[in-house]
Formats: sequence, C-alpha cells, structure tokens
Amino acid sequence: MTPQGLAEWYQALAKTMLLPGALLDQFAIGLTGRAPLPPAPLRWRVHGTPDLASFLEVGDRCAQDIAKALRQVGRDFAEFRRILDFGCGCGRVLMPVRRLAPAAQCQGTDLDGEAIAWCAANLPGCEFTVNGPEPPLPFDAGRFDLVYAISVFTHLDEASQFRWLAELQRLTQPGGILLVTVHGSACWNGWPRDQSEAVRRKGILLVQEPVMEVFAPYCAQNTYHTREYVIEQYSRYFRVLDYLPAAMNRHQDVVLLERGASTAA
Ligand SMILES: C[S@@+](CC[C@H](N)C(=O)[O-])C[C@H]1O[C@@H](n2cnc3c(N)ncnc32)[C@H](O)[C@@H]1O
Repeated sequence: MTPQGLAEWYQALAKTMLLPGALLDQFAIGLTGRAPLPPAPLRWRVHGTPDLASFLEVGDRCAQDIAKALRQVGRDFAEFRRILDFGCGCGRVLMPVRRLAPAAQCQGTDLDGEAIAWCAANLPGCEFTVNGPEPPLPFDAGRFDLVYAISVFTHLDEASQFRWLAELQRLTQPGGILLVTVHGSACWNGWPRDQSEAVRRKGILLVQEPVMEVFAPYCAQNTYHTREYVIEQYSRYFRVLDYLPAAMNRHQDVVLLERGASTAA
C-alpha cells in the first residue's frame, strides 16, 4: 500500500477515534518524518479534518503568511523577542513559527486544555497556558512584542472580541505588533444576497455552527467581518498598520495592528 493509500485508510479509522485508529495515526505521523505531531482528534479541532498532509501544509503556509504580512509593514520575525500565539490550539502554526523565530521566547495559550496539554508535553522550547473564555491572561502588561491570533477572532462574538482586543493591547509592548485574522469578504462575498447584506449592514455577523460542536467544540460559531468595521473598531485599541485581504491561508484577511506608546491606540 502506498503512503497515500495508508493515510486515507488511517483517516477512515481515525474518525472512529478507537485504539486501532490512534495506533495507525501514530504510524502515519511517523511516516511524515515530522513527529511529534498532535493526534487526529486534536488536528481535527483546528483544521476541520484529521488529514496530516494538509495540517502540515496549512501550518507552514500560515507561518509564511505571517512573515510576509510583517514584511509588508517593514517588520521581521528575527526582531521579536517574546511572541504570543493567542488561540494556538495544538500548535499547527506555532510549530513552524518556532522555526522562523528560533531566538524568540514563544508562548502559546488556548482555552482547549487537551490541546495545550499535548503542546506542553511535546513542543520543547515554548511555554503554554490554558486560558478562560474571557480575559485576563496571566501575563504582565507589555510582556510581548509580537502577538498573533490565527483564525481565533473568526470565532468570537462582538463583545468578546472587544474584551480580547483590550487584553491583547495590555499585553503588547508599546511599538509591538498584534496580527489577527478575520473572515473578510473573500469568505462571504459569494453568499446569497440577503446573507451577505447582513454582514455589510452591521459590519460583523455571528453564525452558529451546531455541527461543529461534534469535533471542534471551541469553534462552534463563525464570525464574519467587513474591512470598514474592522478598521473603525480595532483602531480604538491599536493603530491599524495594514489590512491585507485573503492574505492568510488564501482566504482569511490579515489585520496588522501596532500598539501605541500610551494606553490609547
Ligand atoms: C480554528 S482554531 C485555530 C487554532 C490555531 N490558531 C491554528 O491556526 O492552528 C481556533 C482556536 O481558537 C481557540 N479559541 C477560541 N476562543 C478562544 C478564546 N477565547 N481564548 C483562547 N483560544 C480560543 C480554539 O480553542 C481553537 O484552538
């Protein structure tokens, strides 16, 4: 059987989440040559499928997309000393970010305790915390010079989004960068007219996804934004340096924010 055929077979089994599936998953992880990697159920939660090849590919692409976005505003991974991955899940993006910024102290946080337990046990050189659904995080003000949140604000409701923006502002040092991604127009332009109008009208729309409860309980709602809303609202917390449509993993918009010198943006 080819590795590809084996991977497909494993995926079918892994969906049952039974022991044979888990053993086969470990075998398939070995075949990638990139072990340790998180087990199928954890990959599924952040990735929508347990597929290993696309998990690795998307993680690598997202890290490169962060690097590209930083370069757009004249910044580089190499200059950051303390990096926070907010909503790191099982480390899909943090693993390749670590390779791009080997000198930085990397911190991951998420409300998914199982994902964080896996990261803490398997990703040396980074520190991890489990956070609650609402702020605060257990860090001193101004601790980080780069904070990023990939596909996290895409799941927060409006009030929670503002509380987390205020908290991430507190944690980012003056002149530091916050990079977040949102579901911008590339994600909703093709919707039926009444639904895309609903996003346009208020600038933000929360959509419940009950089916996601089954395999991604922390992502059971999706949030959609307009560019105008993001720039107007997020500039209450940070200086908006740039807004890059579909610049994260070819579909999410990237918002590049800089912490001002004072508590005001
Ligand atoms: C789609 S996954 C993306 C995970 C990771 N950033 C990546 O790209 O692989 C969304 C993540 O956000 C996390 N999350 C959602 N709300 C959160 C919150 N209030 N605080 C921390 N993490 C949160 C979820 O647990 C999940 O791991």
